Amino acid sequence: MKFELPTLPYDYAALEPHIGARTLELHYSKHHQGYMNKLEKAVAGTEAANADLEYLVRHAEGEVFNNAAQVWNHSFYWNSMAARGGGKPDGNLTARIQRDIGGLDAFKREFAEIAGGEFGSGWAWLVESPDGVLEILSTTDAENPLTDGYHPLLTLDVWEHAYYLDYQQDRSRYIEAFLDHLINWNFAQHNLGQRMARAKAASATA
Ligand code: FE2
Repeated sequence: MKFELPTLPYDYAALEPHIGARTLELHYSKHHQGYMNKLEKAVAGTEAANADLEYLVRHAEGEVFNNAAQVWNHSFYWNSMAARGGGKPDGNLTARIQRDIGGLDAFKREFAEIAGGEFGSGWAWLVESPDGVLEILSTTDAENPLTDGYHPLLTLDVWEHAYYLDYQQDRSRYIEAFLDHLINWNFAQHNLGQRMARAKAASATA
């Protein structure tokens, strides 16, 4: 299987003024593409070259894991944002956030705290735990919650390259812009729906 860098789901200027076109261009065409290039080099001539990307995120280690996870994480991150994002979730996600996190305001507070508190480079995530509870967590470097059996619903890249041109060292303003203007609740809802459909299919065949 040949790994493919997905097309960015919007143009470079689509998220302005919250994320500048230059940031997105560099982030996608240099960083994301760079991880893909390194992944292809690392797996060339090995069994991993035929593996599914998600399989590598769940099972690979070292350089292959780091680059596979960074490819997966960035693709997921692009979809976690939308040009007219922000606002409120709808559907059953609203009820789940209320039940598990205490509502949208509590979600925003906790997400900002966890994303801001990740020391150094990493990612902040809304996930569903293996027990079916929504949680907010952060991971370091390339780490991905799939490895621990969590189901990601959305993510925010908190590596400095994601926000430095627009916000310099001020990560908190970037997080605030994400939560208020960019977050793509439809994508999170879609991911939650997929998870529920999979759980239903599994219990029907059990
Ligand atoms: Fe990044």
